[in-house]
Amino acid sequence: MKVESMRPPKAPADPVSLHKKMMQLMSSLWVTRAVGTFARLGFADAMEKGADQPAALAAPHGLDAGRVYRLLRALTTVGIVTENAGGRFTLTPLGRLLGSSSTHSMRTAAILLTEYHADIWANLDGALKGGTAFEALKGQPLFEWLGKNPKEGARFQRMMLEVHEPETPAIVAAYDFARHQHIIDIGGGNGSLLSAILAAHSGPRATLFDLPEGIAAAKLGAGGPLPGVTLAEGDVFKAVPEGGDLYLVRHLLHDYADEEAVQILQNIRRAMRPDARVLVLEKPVPVDDTPGPGRWLDLHVMLLTGGAERTLEEYSVLFARADLKLARCLPTAHPAIEVIEAVAADARRG
Ligand SMILES: C[S@@+](CC[C@H](N)C(=O)[O-])C[C@H]1O[C@@H](n2cnc3c(N)ncnc32)[C@H](O)[C@@H]1O
Repeated sequence: MKVESMRPPKAPADPVSLHKKMMQLMSSLWVTRAVGTFARLGFADAMEKGADQPAALAAPHGLDAGRVYRLLRALTTVGIVTENAGGRFTLTPLGRLLGSSSTHSMRTAAILLTEYHADIWANLDGALKGGTAFEALKGQPLFEWLGKNPKEGARFQRMMLEVHEPETPAIVAAYDFARHQHIIDIGGGNGSLLSAILAAHSGPRATLFDLPEGIAAAKLGAGGPLPGVTLAEGDVFKAVPEGGDLYLVRHLLHDYADEEAVQILQNIRRAMRPDARVLVLEKPVPVDDTPGPGRWLDLHVMLLTGGAERTLEEYSVLFARADLKLARCLPTAHPAIEVIEAVAADARRG
């Protein structure tokens, strides 16, 4: 295994700049919290409807207008709102993403990332010993908890849509889906990826496979229309639908530790046609100093589910344990996603 060598970002060497940089690192939680509060209280929605003064935002919630002013003033520094004359504020295009009716709304993600997705980080010290911070917090694994709390299941699926939406067109453009007959999306959640693939290519048959809460979101149309798609509820650790010639696995392997990820791949290998392809749609962690969010997402999934982000070499090891082999890795136009294609280990061509 190649050891990752990371050059730290170039930091200015004078003590004042170093102190400032360290203060920024230590206080970034403040920004996350402020953004989450702004989203949770629906301030972007209210501003879209014309409220432009702290008092107007404060009144419906019984808040103190002076304190709301201070929140808004702080948020001007990160580009969520701008302050105008007379204590009025304008929502920026960035701030609009925190509104529920914005086309590319990220409001649910902003809220959830300051609820249990933030609380698990409080247990990072302990989690470095082992275990899963989410389980320490809630007493059960994430997907079990989501299954028992349908409202949370729906919010999680909404967050998935918000976070992964920009990757979807990049995936559709990066791979030749049209030449496949039966595409099966494993852990496809609300179905947004299949919906986009079928909108671009009407030929292939498609099956969406997920736990009940994912299928429930798909049935409500949360990820877009799914014309003719078979909706299959099930547990990927038991069995997955058979006979596909293309299996999609987007952001599922990273939710699980190696043993479980191998089980998932083995179940796909058992179910797939001998000439089928498996596309793992994630972003390999770079082994050089290429930037990217993977090294941080790696910690988040470690805390949330006990999962991991992986290097391409690590994916290859998992594939080999499931009688598969890496065929190729295609970049996409989106920096957070690549198409990692695997085939049966005995396939003649990669
Ligand atoms: C991180 S989400 C990704 C959803 C979707 N693929 C996407 O990219 O937006 C992981 C998905 O895997 C599903 N999942 C997790 N464990 C599963 C299991 N044991 N069996 C079936 N689906 C599972 C979840 O319900 C969820 O929809």
